[in-house]
Amino acid sequence: MLVLTGAGISAESGLATFRGTDGLWEGHHVEEVASPEGFEANPELVWRFYIERRRAALKVEPNAAHRVLAGWEEMLGDRFLLVTQNVDGLHQRAGSQRAIEIHGSLFRTRCHYCDLPAFEDLSLEPQRLHHGCVGCRDDAQRIALRPDIVWFGEMLDPAHLAQLERFMVQAGASGKPFHFVAIGTSGHVYPAAGLVVRARQAGAQTHLVNLEVPTNLDTFEHFHQGEATKVLSTLYSAC
Ligand code: OAD
Repeated sequence: MLVLTGAGISAESGLATFRGTDGLWEGHHVEEVASPEGFEANPELVWRFYIERRRAALKVEPNAAHRVLAGWEEMLGDRFLLVTQNVDGLHQRAGSQRAIEIHGSLFRTRCHYCDLPAFEDLSLEPQRLHHGCVGCRDDAQRIALRPDIVWFGEMLDPAHLAQLERFMVQAGASGKPFHFVAIGTSGHVYPAAGLVVRARQAGAQTHLVNLEVPTNLDTFEHFHQGEATKVLSTLYSAC
């Protein structure tokens, strides 16, 4: 089983989803706070924004849907893989270990300019980061450190994509039922939104669990409309 999650799974924990009707993300234009150009133009604003996201994620708890997925992993072992677009760490706090964070994590920091490896960072003090990176000795004044998040216009980690591809090929060739389940995602952001098509090619039965009818509904064979916590409590036996 391959599970893809999006912001909708964390909504019942109390975290806002991305696509509100006003086109803003917590009062900001997405390109201001979630693009390399936005960071280069105003790194202080970007840090204030992500420190606030960190604070919000630490204030809430994983919900029943996160816990159901940790339970599926326990039952299925290496026949289960979770890929999340969320950066809030709630899957890990619910007990998921076989989880790929394709859009990165709020709780890691890396350098915007050099290949200093990302490191764990739970700090809620943005001013601590207003220093040059130790790897970039040329300019200690600029703010080089940034959240380890994949922003618009940036590439996903090719190692993650390769791991996903290997999993789908093996699951499809295993001779056992293979299910792809997307949960709480509007299907607007690629390449995550295209996974359903690749999973189907690899032999998966495809399911979507979502509160609203998304624009890419016709790419799924089964649609389970409702709140993730409710739908997931019975979905496994229905698969
Ligand atoms: P969106 O905010 O685009 O979509 C969330 C979806 O969850 C919507 O279709 C809602 O109907 C649904 N939803 C809300 N509450 C739900 C609930 N309780 N149960 C089930 N579904 C529910 O979020 P994503 O699709 O995750 O990227 O957005 C994808 C990416 O866009 C994010 O990872 C982020 C953003 O820009 C980066 O930060 C790189």
